[in-house]
Amino acid sequence: MSVLTIADLPSGRVADSRALVRVDFNVPLDSQSRVTNDTRIVQALPTLIHLLERGGALVVTSHLGRPKGEPDPALSLRPVAEHLAGLLDFPVHFSEELVGPAAREAVEELAGGELLLLENTRFHPGETKNDPELSLALAAYGDFYVNDAFGSAHRAHSSTVGVAEQIREKGGEAVAGFLMEKELRYLGMALEDPTPPFVALLGGAKISGKIDVIRSLLPKVDRLLVGGAMANTFFRALGLETGDSLVEEDRVDLARGVLQEAGEKILLPVDCVVAPEIADAVDTREVARDEVGPGDRIGDIGRGSRDLFAQVLEGARTVLWNGPMGVFEMSPFAGGTLALAQAVARVTEKGGITIIGGGDSVAAAEMAGVADRLSHVSTGGGASLEFLSGAVLPGVAALQSRKGGAS
Ligand code: 3PG
Repeated sequence: MSVLTIADLPSGRVADSRALVRVDFNVPLDSQSRVTNDTRIVQALPTLIHLLERGGALVVTSHLGRPKGEPDPALSLRPVAEHLAGLLDFPVHFSEELVGPAAREAVEELAGGELLLLENTRFHPGETKNDPELSLALAAYGDFYVNDAFGSAHRAHSSTVGVAEQIREKGGEAVAGFLMEKELRYLGMALEDPTPPFVALLGGAKISGKIDVIRSLLPKVDRLLVGGAMANTFFRALGLETGDSLVEEDRVDLARGVLQEAGEKILLPVDCVVAPEIADAVDTREVARDEVGPGDRIGDIGRGSRDLFAQVLEGARTVLWNGPMGVFEMSPFAGGTLALAQAVARVTEKGGITIIGGGDSVAAAEMAGVADRLSHVSTGGGASLEFLSGAVLPGVAALQSRKGGAS
């Protein structure tokens, strides 16, 4: 799947044109509405700056959170516009309307080299329904459309799909921004052309959320390392005691099937950090995986597993990491995730490709201080999981492919 990008637009196309740009500014805000992690905003800057420097007038849309199709002041994009203004050397305006006379006027008044962020797309009831009327109204804002919102590409919404179709209908281009292109390149490389040995490190709470990814990766990986609470369900499939740990009872058979299918490829933790409860200040023990007691809760992988996984990672040329190894937000259970974050970063330093996706693992990589030592940190949570499970993302399919049709 190869989509056209803004770099493919004919020269001179951007100057004196209006670009409608969809970004994913779904970022965390604190109680004072301050942006607490601006990674997604920063990652979209190359696209915005590229267009602004060439004299484009940018009408920018995004969602924030999950409002129910009506305005919710706590989810206004205004604070995000203010944050963005601090990152750009170009004028940034904000419109309290997405569509309507005030929004249209603000769009009309926008000059080249200026950016207008419109209010949260999900304040409009049509957005999540991919409503043609809303798509048409949005399409009127741009001569061409740029989608840089990889994190939202798994949603078939008006601002991600319908609008691309409408703009193309009226003869405008629908292309990917630099971030979208980079995400597709790295994640696509893991799926289609990984340099072996290819090792996937999967963690997180639930096997149910990752089963499609496991299935899609199994034929491609040389090794699949599994940690996090997800491993507990595999332990149960092996007939091991898991105490009071989180287990997806209804997925034990599924885990058994995966173990059979994966054979030697899959490696489970050999030991665990356990405690009577998962809390910030608790006494923990490290036990072999067949020594977990009835009242124990597994919160992390043990040292033996960290060494084992790190050793496998050491020989890898491509690593895909999704999901933490334990409850890393709590210090007694952070060791496994932090140790493996370092192990993954060492692969990059030795010339390998390291790709990390999923909100939790990104937060873990940041906590471990290795985020800038990885080849690619995906901004997509659900989108990267869907992509890695082999699905065609609707927001990508709506863009122009290199051959000229839909991608
Ligand atoms: C995300 O945070 O994963 C994206 O912004 C998509 O958000 P959504 O799951 O609410 O569609």
